Amino acid sequence: MILAHPNIEESIGNKIISNIIAQQKNTEVRHLDQLYPDFKIDIKTEQEALLSAETIVFQYPLFWYSTPAILKEWIDQVFQYGFAFGANSYNLEGKKIILSFTIGSPTTDYPQDIIDKITFHLKGLSQYCKMDFLGVLFCNDINNYTDGAKEKAIDRSNSQAEKLIELINQ
Ligand SMILES: Cc1cc2nc3c(=O)[nH]c(=O)nc-3n(C[C@H](O)[C@H](O)[C@H](O)COP(=O)(O)O)c2cc1C
Repeated sequence: MILAHPNIEESIGNKIISNIIAQQKNTEVRHLDQLYPDFKIDIKTEQEALLSAETIVFQYPLFWYSTPAILKEWIDQVFQYGFAFGANSYNLEGKKIILSFTIGSPTTDYPQDIIDKITFHLKGLSQYCKMDFLGVLFCNDINNYTDGAKEKAIDRSNSQAEKLIELINQ
């Protein structure tokens, strides 16, 4: 799991999901913000981590319809020409990839066409690199703003973790 969250101590969703995944057998959670607080990505280490994985999960909170900046930087650095694509070097070919993210706003703000738009670039990346795109998991209303919101957010996050485990093991 490639986890991007700049403030994981305050997190509800990403903390729950990544903690549950970390407890599964044969999994590794790489928390980019902890590994690279200065954004200086160790490209070789990250590429080796990807090579050793069968399934790769991008786990993140939705930030302005996209990923947190560190995940974008990590992709830009790690998915290099000659490693992830091009020059007959598709080293991630056939690896499974899943997008798993949390959304602050309610489901009414995120109909399927919006979900398709905000995941288009990452689906495109995986197809370009000949990876096996398994799908998108997300939960809405992950916030602490109103009475009872936190409890519901915890439930949704636990459900997402269960679905994620099913998808990884299918
Ligand atoms: C910089 C920033 C941008 C955000 N952009 C969006 C957004 O575009 N849409 C949305 O629904 N929520 C947005 N949010 C809310 C987060 O998605 C939400 O707080 C997060 O998914 C909750 O996950 P967590 O409990 O793991 O922190 C944004 C939050 C921040 C800090």
